[in-house]
Amino acid sequence: MLPHTFVSRIAAASASVLLAACLPSPQARQASGDAERGRKLIAQYQCGECHSVPGVEDARGTRAVTLESFGLRSYIAGRVPQQPEVLVRWIVEPAAVVPGTTMPRMGVSERDARDIAAYLGGLR
Ligand code: HEC
Repeated sequence: MLPHTFVSRIAAASASVLLAACLPSPQARQASGDAERGRKLIAQYQCGECHSVPGVEDARGTRAVTLESFGLRSYIAGRVPQQPEVLVRWIVEPAAVVPGTTMPRMGVSERDARDIAAYLGGLR
């Protein structure tokens, strides 16, 4: 292998690493929780009473918006930008994020909310 080919390959490889570091990937918006645990918690807290949630058994509620593809949405409740920390806060106490919202406080702990947010943020 000619040395310059080797060098250009390294250059190309490090350029793509840099690019990957700079471009915000959809995953970067996802909360750093345990999504699989979150999926189970969604069933446990019965979010499906109101919401339809893909991947969660019996979560087929139609009283509120479906959470299908929620990870692709830019806003929470159409009001605040969807960011992991805001989503966690929303799940713990919706009215603290959007005053007057009809989504009730579900008694979710901060830790559980983190895992639920990781699951919801990953819904494509
Ligand atoms: C009693 C019905 C009800 C239950 C139970 C409920 N929600 Fe909601 N949820 C709502 C309503 C109503 C909205 C819309 C609020 C608004 O627009 O202000 C909402 C909105 C949301 C949104 C924002 C959706 C969007 O597209 O912007 C998320 C995320 C969410 N709920 C998650 C949850 C989770 C997680 C649980 C369980 C811990 C849960 N909800 C339980 C009624 C409910």
